[in-house]
Amino acid sequence: MSVGSADPRRVYIETYGCQMNVYDSAAIGGILSAEGYRRVEAAADADLVLLNTCSVREHAEHKVISRIGELRKMRREIGLPRWIGVVGCMAERLGVKLLGGVNHADLVVGVDSYDRLPRILAELPAAPPRSERSATGHRADAFYVAPPEAYPARNSHLVTIDKGCDYRCTYCIVPETRGPQSAKPLAAIVTEIEAVVAAGGREVTLLGQNVSAYRTDEADFAGLLRAVHGVPGLERIRFLTGHPRDMGEDLIRAIGELDKVCPWLHVPAQSGSDRVLKRMKRLYTAADYLRMVELSRRHIADVTFSGDFIVGFPGETDEDFRRTLELVRAVEYDQTFNFKYSPRPGTPAAKLPDDVPEAVKKERLAELMDLQKNVWEKTAAAQKGRRWPVVIEGRARRPRSAWSARAMNNRKVLIEGGAYEPGDRLTVEIEDFESTTFRGAPLDEAR
Ligand code: 5AD
Ligand code: SF4
Repeated sequence: MSVGSADPRRVYIETYGCQMNVYDSAAIGGILSAEGYRRVEAAADADLVLLNTCSVREHAEHKVISRIGELRKMRREIGLPRWIGVVGCMAERLGVKLLGGVNHADLVVGVDSYDRLPRILAELPAAPPRSERSATGHRADAFYVAPPEAYPARNSHLVTIDKGCDYRCTYCIVPETRGPQSAKPLAAIVTEIEAVVAAGGREVTLLGQNVSAYRTDEADFAGLLRAVHGVPGLERIRFLTGHPRDMGEDLIRAIGELDKVCPWLHVPAQSGSDRVLKRMKRLYTAADYLRMVELSRRHIADVTFSGDFIVGFPGETDEDFRRTLELVRAVEYDQTFNFKYSPRPGTPAAKLPDDVPEAVKKERLAELMDLQKNVWEKTAAAQKGRRWPVVIEGRARRPRSAWSARAMNNRKVLIEGGAYEPGDRLTVEIEDFESTTFRGAPLDEAR
């Protein structure tokens, strides 16, 4: 049923969830642009809307379902978007189920099928069928490689190095949506990063559910970092997300030694209670975690930490929760992302009674966020007067007259006035901070 003229030529991609999806959306954009599709900035201007989705918490899924409802309403009113597609983790988790129900999509494409999108789209009928619906496969091909169009001239780029996860944290849906861990070959990653640099990029963020567990016959994650470090012209390397268990001394030392690797570790602890950690199958204790932090502070200059926490995991007592607070106090994170436990169907934890009342989850979440705010304010206040080399990322969102810059260890600094370009490097003196953003005054221009 190939109706070329019915191709949805104007595409709007809306991204939910993590950086992996941000990368994937850019890759999908690149794949489609190469085929003559045009990216637009609003659903109301699009023939095709692709929602790149996240399954990690129920809330994230609800948002997408109601967004589909909105888009369907828009279509009734203005005739656009003609097609509503779902890609990403919900496409994997729910598959054809997304083609049923009140707020249903017209098209579902799994995470391994993005390179086939042009073919899938070329075969769409003129309008979404009312009864018979199109769905496409799950977990088919190996890695799709983003064509160079996916690298607009920007300073900083995301590069996916592996996907899926071999850990079995009991709350987590990722092993189901993204499958087992599979690593992109070293040479493919290096080639991709060379393309980034050729397009004017100077920074990459290596992405994966568990980058620290990266392993092929050729290299482990430390080996990969060394190889990427060797790409001429590249200046900064970040990575997300690390698993505490993989952050051994070799890797920590490598991070400390390789000067392009940013001293910023996003290493979720999830809980500070050994009892809870065990039930989560995180495979470390709070003491192990603190040792990892200690070792990192010893070997990585100016290292900063961020992490994720879940409150209200099944069976979490007040005492367990106090341990989480203790850990947060001890680590002194720059930033924590805190979540109320949300049972995901099919995960091992979903079989446990979700027995922490919603009101208690809420209270714990608020207390954790409060503590983190206090911890951070102390850390941040101690930075006044320090001098940091930073890189300009672009105009600040607020105020537009300011520039947004980032220090090696990921701290964000606003600079008032001046004329810069993304990628410019300079040194600033820290004057003040608001929430997680610092204000700095430029001292000199290194470039
Ligand atoms: N409930 C709440 N939070 C979750 N996360 C993952 N699964 C769940 C769940 N079922 C959180 C973890 C993870 C982050 C991406 O999302 O903290 O690190
Ligand atoms: Fe999920 Fe655990 Fe794997 Fe992270 S390490 S993706 S939390 S199973």
